[in-house]
Amino acid sequence: MRIVNINKVVTGQLLGKSLFNSKGKLLLAAGYELTNDILDSLKSLGYNAIFIMDELSEDIVPEEVIEDSIRQILSQKVAETFEGIKNNPAFEAFAPENIKQILNSDPSFKNVVQMQSVRQQVDMLLDEIISNHVMMFSSLPVKSENGKEYQHALDTSILAILIAQKFNYTKRELRFLGTAGLLHDIGKLPFKNLAEKEWEVLTAEEKFILREHPSYSMMILRGSEVNTFVEQTAVLQHHEHLDGSGYPQRLKGVNTPPRPSKTPEAGVIYRFAEILAVANEYDRLISGFVDGKKYSPSEAISKMIGKVGNWWNSHALKALTQVVQHYPVGCCVRIRMTSSHKYAGYSGIVSESNEDEQNKPVIVLYEDSVGGRITPRKYDLSREKLVHLEMIL
Ligand SMILES: [Fe+2]
Repeated sequence: MRIVNINKVVTGQLLGKSLFNSKGKLLLAAGYELTNDILDSLKSLGYNAIFIMDELSEDIVPEEVIEDSIRQILSQKVAETFEGIKNNPAFEAFAPENIKQILNSDPSFKNVVQMQSVRQQVDMLLDEIISNHVMMFSSLPVKSENGKEYQHALDTSILAILIAQKFNYTKRELRFLGTAGLLHDIGKLPFKNLAEKEWEVLTAEEKFILREHPSYSMMILRGSEVNTFVEQTAVLQHHEHLDGSGYPQRLKGVNTPPRPSKTPEAGVIYRFAEILAVANEYDRLISGFVDGKKYSPSEAISKMIGKVGNWWNSHALKALTQVVQHYPVGCCVRIRMTSSHKYAGYSGIVSESNEDEQNKPVIVLYEDSVGGRITPRKYDLSREKLVHLEMIL
């Protein structure tokens, strides 16, 4: 199967991979013959790409990072947790000028998060990652617009765990990070639709709220379970940058491997937060949360590399490049350049990723440089010294 832009899918093509709604319910099963009506509904649900199955791609099977069934259950649970926070009556009278004071002192803001359920979600995720030896994150551009905040929470949690595994975090420490990943943005939930707006159109008050959301997330979490120091600190600092240009506290960081530390150093970004920051930014870029553009995995990584050492811990970012598929299996790419000058301008479908060199996958070439169909042939790009690919969607 391969990933195709929804606008390029034609009637009669077969759906390659089942689609589920944001709450984990089956929308459309794999194998379904797509009609114009169905394609229109998928567009209205915000899908920009889907998997289709055709002769060209029948042998290509994307690797599952997290079992579909587990992912659906988790999506449903995360959605329930988030809806519970959003619809909590305590937030109805939430006035921007006294948020922190209210969160600190008003007893109606206690236990807003069902922590027992969150712990179960994180344990389910961790068991899946550890028992299946999951090392890779396959971020495919098939996220629907609906419920993207739940998906972002879940994917940030998965990514943070995968990055932390590279630094030998214990299961207990991974559990802290997984929980912080799920809850890092809950401080935005009481302000419905605020996160959806472009930064330029926000009022000064709304900008203030957005820049303070890590503090609100931390306070909501603290009000739900006092004994969550590691998670609270990671959540509070998930938008801090090494050079002090982040928010809300403008902390600075040290660019050394983010190995777990029990107590944060005063005035310095906590090691757990450095990992969470990298995971969060990557998923924000591919989800279209940063500037409205949904970056491809390789574009997101390139963009983050531009700020490595200034914003992002270079060790955490290197680990990110090792745990995400730069060109996920099933996506179409065009060869811009290779060191051997072979197949320049040709298009192909990624059929396997190369674990050691994520930017050089194995592809099945199907189109020449002028758009003519060719007999499909496999080409292992790891044979090339230099490769420059462009993802086509
Ligand atoms: Fe955030």
